[in-house]
Amino acid sequence: LLSEDAVPLQECRDLIASLPVDHRVVPVRQYQGFWWPESTLPGVIAVQRHFKSRPDDVFLATYPKSGTTWLKSLAFAVTTRSQYPLSDHPLLQINPHQCVHSLERMFNRGRSSEIDALPSPRILATHMLHSVLPDSIAASDCRIVYLWRDPKDVIVSAWHFGEKVLGTREYQAEWPVDKVAMAHCEGISTHATIWDHILGYWRARMHRPEKILFLRYEEMLAEPAANLKRMADFLGCPFSPEEEKAGMVEEIVTLCSFNNLSGLAINKPSSDVTDEGTKLQLLNNASFFRKGERGDWRNHMSPEVARRMDEMTMEKLQGSGLSF
Ligand code: A3P
Repeated sequence: LLSEDAVPLQECRDLIASLPVDHRVVPVRQYQGFWWPESTLPGVIAVQRHFKSRPDDVFLATYPKSGTTWLKSLAFAVTTRSQYPLSDHPLLQINPHQCVHSLERMFNRGRSSEIDALPSPRILATHMLHSVLPDSIAASDCRIVYLWRDPKDVIVSAWHFGEKVLGTREYQAEWPVDKVAMAHCEGISTHATIWDHILGYWRARMHRPEKILFLRYEEMLAEPAANLKRMADFLGCPFSPEEEKAGMVEEIVTLCSFNNLSGLAINKPSSDVTDEGTKLQLLNNASFFRKGERGDWRNHMSPEVARRMDEMTMEKLQGSGLSF
């Protein structure tokens, strides 16, 4: 007998089995115009069919490896700051991904009832493209914080992450960074290309600018306090003059900084385990922390390929009003 949470996943199985498949790296299926890792697709479809938003929901939307972990920690810390003293904060004990759930991942794991049970206002994260979000989110009053990052660094970060997910160096040997980047320029990627992902949310923002906040990873690194304040204002919990005077903004920035979070015992590597179903390594908390810098692409990408990526970024963003 299936649990209630597992029914939506079961329903998708036949549909997924009928979709075009590509096995070159990990099995991916083409769905609604984009390629998705087969292992995550049931969650995406289940969200489309069954997720019920609430008007005060907040979504943290990112292309994978754009700084989701950081955004989750900041959004969680800023919205719960009256509940937890920063010196004894949940982020010191648990990973940011346990503080803010990823919507499609929870559906994928048959844990959607935990999302239903969360008190309002909920903060949820998603990697789904704007065009595949269910109307229950896209056409709702929900607020969305979108974080984007230099596509070159996203590719490099994803490349390192790929090795951890697949648990093999063969992947990196067969798919060096330059090859991954060039494939991306040709539109070969999961979750759409980085540019299409960004532009989907950017265009949606044109229609409801007060509901979608755009943040950029590099700007957050350069001016974390100013960007945290923007996010607090947007989320309806601005810092009071007293809080600012007491140094609350800087304390949250420090709590969520790469050095602090990656140095915590909870975010140190634990023994790797393999998921019996997918044969992929289950990610340990440390997998989400690598360097946390801008410009690491210089150490991995050839200048020609970097130039091509920048050309693509310019071409794609041209005329959008979004500057790189
Ligand atoms: P690098 O691989 O370039 O170091 P995501 O969270 O979307 O999976 O993105 C992971 C990227 O964000 C990794 O980038 C990781 O190191 C970086 N990151 C994680 N936590 C961070 C933090 N607190 N501050 C800045 N960057 C962070």
